[in-house]
Amino acid sequence: MEKRSENKEPLKIYIHTFGCQMNENDSERIAGALIDQGAEFSPSPEESDLIIINTCAVREKSEEKLYSLLGRLESIKKRKGLKIAVVGCVAQLYRSRLIEKKPFIDFVIGPDNYREMKHIIADHFKEKIIATSWSQEWHEVSHPQIFRESHISAYVTIMEGCNNFCSYCIVPFTRGREKYRPMENIIGEVKYLAGKGYKETQLLGQNVNSYKDPETGMGFSGLLRKVNSIDGIEWIRFVTSHPKNFTIDIAKVMKESRKACHQLHLPVQSGSSSVLKAMNREYTREEYLEKISILRDLMPDISLSTDIIVGFPGETGKDYQETLSLLEKVRFSNIFSFRYSPRPLTAASLKKETVPFDQKKKRLIELQNYQKKLQLELNKSFLGRVIKVLCLGKSKKDPSLYSGRNEGYQVVNFKSEDNVIGHFVDVRIDSCGPYSLIGEVTQ
Ligand code: SAH
Ligand code: SF4
Ligand code: F3S
Repeated sequence: MEKRSENKEPLKIYIHTFGCQMNENDSERIAGALIDQGAEFSPSPEESDLIIINTCAVREKSEEKLYSLLGRLESIKKRKGLKIAVVGCVAQLYRSRLIEKKPFIDFVIGPDNYREMKHIIADHFKEKIIATSWSQEWHEVSHPQIFRESHISAYVTIMEGCNNFCSYCIVPFTRGREKYRPMENIIGEVKYLAGKGYKETQLLGQNVNSYKDPETGMGFSGLLRKVNSIDGIEWIRFVTSHPKNFTIDIAKVMKESRKACHQLHLPVQSGSSSVLKAMNREYTREEYLEKISILRDLMPDISLSTDIIVGFPGETGKDYQETLSLLEKVRFSNIFSFRYSPRPLTAASLKKETVPFDQKKKRLIELQNYQKKLQLELNKSFLGRVIKVLCLGKSKKDPSLYSGRNEGYQVVNFKSEDNVIGHFVDVRIDSCGPYSLIGEVTQ
């Protein structure tokens, strides 16, 4: 940002974040670095000097969200003369072409270049900047600087990038190859967070199970054991796990360590082995189900969630039925499901689309309704039970209720006479819907 003299107003920033948890954590890092330089948050884009849009390219729809926001910001920019930075995965994907397409963008900064941001803005606030280079090294961000909105649950990035090249996925092209954060720094950050009173941490990476400490070579299960030994943090979660890298050893550490939540997001993508092969996922339906069965043997209470893509090129009606039957077999507590969206640079984008748009849409709606029914059945099994919940705030829909998550990462909305935000409470569940549990704090 500009070197602002004493009598100058602080630079006002507004950050809009699309995409995954890693993007949210990146925005916390960007905000922290700029605030450390004297910037302040602006309550609205209109009142800001610099708008930062952190973008996602994973599906066409994610990308379109950027263009529709830019459409709204263009007129504000004309009136006010503010600066616009497009950062994140769309910035990395299109680089200079983004400015050619939308000349009113001032800065295009890819995910591996955020450390440059404060310098870029300090030195060249008046020039257009494109920073989208790659580096093999891990760049540490000073953790006291990270500006986190939550004081209860914190994201901690442990690795970045992906080497898997699933045939539909753009992430390896936007985040680059895998890089691992030194374990010492991860432990340092979690200890710092524990000292600040955080109760929960979520370890983040595109492919967390392939984590390897660059100094000692220790893997993800070793890291999990170490984080488990840090006093103060009560719950540990991690995302995302690739089924091919999720080992029995990790499952055993989850079982043995007191703090690792019995909860796992394990994206399956499809229930058909032939579609999985075309997706380059490197596991079969049977291998996936075998892992689920081992997990359930070790932790009968484990709560599982997944990602599903419908309408991948070549997906037949039978393949799709296999996905439905997998949902029925596993009984996930939550799923994220998408219509296949061809993405630039990916292997699958070269294949002919075989499932017409309307058919994809129909399959997605049917699948979501089916899962809704399964979730409602699962949630009903909680009725009358008392469960431990970490209260994260007030319910957005009904501010007379508090809201939190149980160990299984299900949303729990509940009544409480006391303000219990930031605390663990026992909640008796007395009603539910497909997407949440509802209850009251017990004494
Ligand atoms: N690293 C994670 C998540 C990657 S992106 C993983 O390996 O699972 C999150 C989800 O978006 C994916 O799990 C997948 O379900 C979905 N997705 C990715 N590319 C997609 C595409 N081209 N079309 C539709 N959904 C996609
Ligand atoms: Fe994408 Fe596959 Fe890597 Fe996940 S594992 S980020 S789906 S390429
Ligand atoms: Fe999207 Fe990039 Fe995350 S493409 S899902 S923001 S890694």
